[in-house]
Amino acid sequence: MTHPAEHRTTRRGFLRYLAGSPVLAGVGMYRWPIGGSSAGRSDDEIVAEMAQFVSEQGRVVYSPDQAVSIFDFEATARTNVPPSHFAYMATGVDGEATLRANREAIARVQLRARHLVDVSEIDMSTEIFGRRWETPIVIQPCGSQKAFHPEGEVAVARAARARGHLQTLSTVTTSSVEEVNEARGEPVWYQLYPTDQWAVTDAILRRVEAAGCPVVVLTVDHPVGGNRETSVRGSRDDPRDCSLCHVPPAEGVSGHVRRKPMFDGLDLEDVSSLNNSSATWEFVDRIKDTVGMRLVVKGVVTREDAELCVEHGVDGIVVSNHGGRNEPTARGTIESLPEVVDAVAGRVPVIVDGGFRRGADMLRALALGADAVGIGRPYLWGLGAFGEAGVDAVLHMLSAELSRSMALVGAPSLKVLNRSFVAGI
Ligand code: GLV
Repeated sequence: MTHPAEHRTTRRGFLRYLAGSPVLAGVGMYRWPIGGSSAGRSDDEIVAEMAQFVSEQGRVVYSPDQAVSIFDFEATARTNVPPSHFAYMATGVDGEATLRANREAIARVQLRARHLVDVSEIDMSTEIFGRRWETPIVIQPCGSQKAFHPEGEVAVARAARARGHLQTLSTVTTSSVEEVNEARGEPVWYQLYPTDQWAVTDAILRRVEAAGCPVVVLTVDHPVGGNRETSVRGSRDDPRDCSLCHVPPAEGVSGHVRRKPMFDGLDLEDVSSLNNSSATWEFVDRIKDTVGMRLVVKGVVTREDAELCVEHGVDGIVVSNHGGRNEPTARGTIESLPEVVDAVAGRVPVIVDGGFRRGADMLRALALGADAVGIGRPYLWGLGAFGEAGVDAVLHMLSAELSRSMALVGAPSLKVLNRSFVAGI
């Protein structure tokens, strides 16, 4: 998306431009000023108030190449994306302690730099399930991506394809797995919210297996929804209707999932939760017995659960606290990573996510034993800012940062990384 020069001068002008944009008007949700409970406040006042949901100070940019850090995409997405959608993405739980903990814990880990090592060539490749990826930066599942840009998950898939990143698609995707696989050029991994109805779980598993997805990623950190205050505040400030993501409370969970393509054609009458709050390890066994896909469990943050994963034949683990948006643990995922890595002792691959915003952040996790590092919000910022071109730019920026950071600590490949490269943990 490019913006005419005359609108570049002020944020207010930029917002007016967006409000009148024929491209965005078609989407029916990118409309400023927003009116309703916000009536009487200027665009600038609303943006200033919503700035509380922005994690770090970036600058609004008007083309991807103007961005200096990924936080510039965050600031730009903030001006494009409706407050309720932005807050849905930005939210943590309660007072955001877990969200903050992810970033704070990464910042406490120091890097130990070695010098006079030949770093003229940097190899960032990693291997997961026998498949080599040129980069260890993986795209984690995030729901409702059309809330950030009309092309949603398909735009992300195209960028992932162009840059060769592993992508996992959310159950609450706004594009079908078949469309996304086509855009990605190969089947993606699929994240599973099982719902509380096995018939629905079973049908979805069979559909994604038929679509060729090699891996199902079961989210286990969401037995019940967390208390997402920021998300609630954002929706209250933004009274526009968006049937894509806000449904009248009377329609309940089945009304919500009915709008998501992965539930097309399913009987949703009895679905009252996206999750199965009675699930135990037997549920993991049941999924393994139902499909031939590899099973990865996402949301493991302790050595005990990591050991149980291996005992139950789980093929891989994602150390994750759902981007700080579910558990009120106030524990950063990089703090959980070493105990999980030690527990699995190389038997299954370990991916970590939660607050990784720079290549140097990722380097810390890779030195602590992660096979790959996942991102969520950063690519949504790129998507909200510039669609596919924004996602592409975010992926490029993070890869370039990781490569540079590896050179600066004397690590020419991921294989040489180990805990001697970190201190302070
Ligand atoms: C969905 O996974 C969410 O965190 O909103």
